[in-house]
Amino acid sequence: MNDYAHIGRSVQRREGRAKLTGAALFTDDFKIEGLLHGATVRSRVPRGRITGIHFEEGFPWDEFVIVTARDIPGKNVVAHLIQDQPCLADGVINHPEEAIMLLAHPDPQRVQDARERVRVDVEPLPPVLSIDESLRCDPVIWGEDNIFKTIHITKGDPDGAEAQGHLRMDATYLTGAQEHVYIEPNAIIAEATAEGVLVRGSMQCPYYVHHALHEMFQLPLEKVRVAQVETGGGFGGKEDFPSMLACHAALLSWKAGGRPVKIAYDREEDMACTTKRHPSRTRIRSAFATDGTLLALDVELLLDGGAYTTLSPVVLSRAAIHASGPYRCPNLRVQARALATNTPPHGAFRGFGAPQSLFAIERHMDEAARRLGLDPAELRRKNLLRTGDVMATGQIMRDEVDLIALMDRALTEIRYAEKRDSYPTLNASDDPVKRGVGFSVFMHGGGFTGSAETMLNSVAALEGTEDGRVRVLAASTEMGQGANTVFTQVAAEALQAPVDLIMVVPPDTSLVPNSGPTVASRTTQVVGKLVLDAGLAMRKTLLDAGLLLDGDVAGAIRTYVARHGALRTESRYQKPDFMEWDDTTYRGDAYATYSWACYAVDLRVDLVTYETQVADFVAVQEVGRALNPTLAAGQIEGGVAQGIGWGLNEEVIWRGGSMANHQMSNYLIATAVDLPRIRVFFEERPFAYGPGGAKGLGELPMDGPAPAILNAVQHALQIAPRQVPMTPEVLMDLVEGA
Ligand code: MOS
Repeated sequence: MNDYAHIGRSVQRREGRAKLTGAALFTDDFKIEGLLHGATVRSRVPRGRITGIHFEEGFPWDEFVIVTARDIPGKNVVAHLIQDQPCLADGVINHPEEAIMLLAHPDPQRVQDARERVRVDVEPLPPVLSIDESLRCDPVIWGEDNIFKTIHITKGDPDGAEAQGHLRMDATYLTGAQEHVYIEPNAIIAEATAEGVLVRGSMQCPYYVHHALHEMFQLPLEKVRVAQVETGGGFGGKEDFPSMLACHAALLSWKAGGRPVKIAYDREEDMACTTKRHPSRTRIRSAFATDGTLLALDVELLLDGGAYTTLSPVVLSRAAIHASGPYRCPNLRVQARALATNTPPHGAFRGFGAPQSLFAIERHMDEAARRLGLDPAELRRKNLLRTGDVMATGQIMRDEVDLIALMDRALTEIRYAEKRDSYPTLNASDDPVKRGVGFSVFMHGGGFTGSAETMLNSVAALEGTEDGRVRVLAASTEMGQGANTVFTQVAAEALQAPVDLIMVVPPDTSLVPNSGPTVASRTTQVVGKLVLDAGLAMRKTLLDAGLLLDGDVAGAIRTYVARHGALRTESRYQKPDFMEWDDTTYRGDAYATYSWACYAVDLRVDLVTYETQVADFVAVQEVGRALNPTLAAGQIEGGVAQGIGWGLNEEVIWRGGSMANHQMSNYLIATAVDLPRIRVFFEERPFAYGPGGAKGLGELPMDGPAPAILNAVQHALQIAPRQVPMTPEVLMDLVEGA
């Protein structure tokens, strides 16, 4: 049933036609008079002291704009949560690929050539290249103990409960780094003088970039303007890095007297130098009663944060809160730490810590089931959260959701019961291709963690125009995920207007209020609600003015604007009444709501080549209401593809702190031919505080595929894989060692 005119309908993607025809302009497509091309001279070592910089003799250096740390007019910092990351290395190097010097020239080839003609002398220092080396503090490379952040969550008496448990387990799970491989590499164009700074480019968070430029130049906020242009995917990779790139391009322009400067990375530079998903190591100790009831969990979670803090504390926070998965667990301890190493900083990537900790708990549950002699589905049935249960941080589970029904739907779709029984018999034959079936159950909190949405204090606005149209004003960016279309639908719904009346203004800090960053599965759930409320306010304004009696929204807006000069309504974030959060104790409502899912896979493992092939994939999720079913399913399919890649193929090979395989020919993402049919199902339980009942869904599909696949491998081969990516090499070692 759908009482809505636009919500719940697959309205065509607003910018789809422009993208399809090539009319859409991305940063690298802009033709700009007098443009200079920027390039970056980088460190080749993980750690050291810069002792000298030499320019090749006989090269016409006077043709180039050259910027080092000494040229920075304000503060040498890329401002994120804290200010520990320099914009350009000044004397000290903390990771390979760290930016040391910037060059610009009218000829893009020439500037790349020049980059090779600068020699940086470095006195190397011993680096920290692994979680273990960082823990040993030998050497200390950050703060007093290499720890960016520690988080503790406790509930009940985990030690007492563990002592009573019938089954005690202790296992460690590893996950690797992951590169975003967004369709469009990072690119920024800047024009900067003391009069003002203008930055345009590919980004998720214009106001983050705005803040970083303001801090680095030490210029008043109103002298800095940041505009997002068409962005070819972000996945978290354009959450924090564009702040650095914007600072670089703006410094070159500043030094060049305000001439426009573009820095557009090619794929290799982007893969080698920008952020990746945090590698993790999670040790879980657990106790279960004989009947499979979960008694206690003790989780020690470690994230490799790279050389600077960037977003590691908040990634860690989400990882820690999701560490006990969708289970009722009366006794719990989570100790989580993010650690410094001498690699490029790890950053946001779709899921933001949750895929790492959910991988660990979802593998652990299947291992526990096997040891208890229970079917993994039976073990879940005993322990899944129910409405009214108390979650890890003390949050009461308010969502009216039936996780067992969600799981059963996925299991029915994959024909779990039948395959669970028949595959072991099939696998006993000589056929080297073994079959397995497995699944994962998981959740993802929508929006920023704890009180952070309140601190963001987001605002969105609507404006009526004199020709009777409506402009949506928000800082939330379209990057392929569908924000424009969803905002259009929501605004049209609130105003009871046709969608063609609605225009979403491209985010530009000089035009739009700060509706917060486009991250954390918050755009539809949180900002969509602001757009809806601003729309309802506009409708009320028109009705109160005695207009709109004939239902002609465009006419009413035209009349109103003609009479009053302007029509603008705003909405500011207000937390749901029940939400309480204490950041010091980590107690309370970590998220206003969660999205829930069960993903099930049927797979083949070839014991000749050790290749794992996903044959069938079922994704059942409860995301409140799917505002645009086609776009929502697209989000799920894309996230599942990234999740399968993370689980099976995407291996970042580290050499001396650098990504050695920074090409798409040797960093293998899942392509269309590698993917199964992904069968997507939505259960709809409208969320009272979301627009039209919607909850966040962008990150959710990243969380479930890897553990579901490895659980199916456990079924197929009767082994316990604990590491992703589970490449053929990893699997071969495991099978041969078994
Ligand atoms: Mo996202 S990983 O919250 O940009």
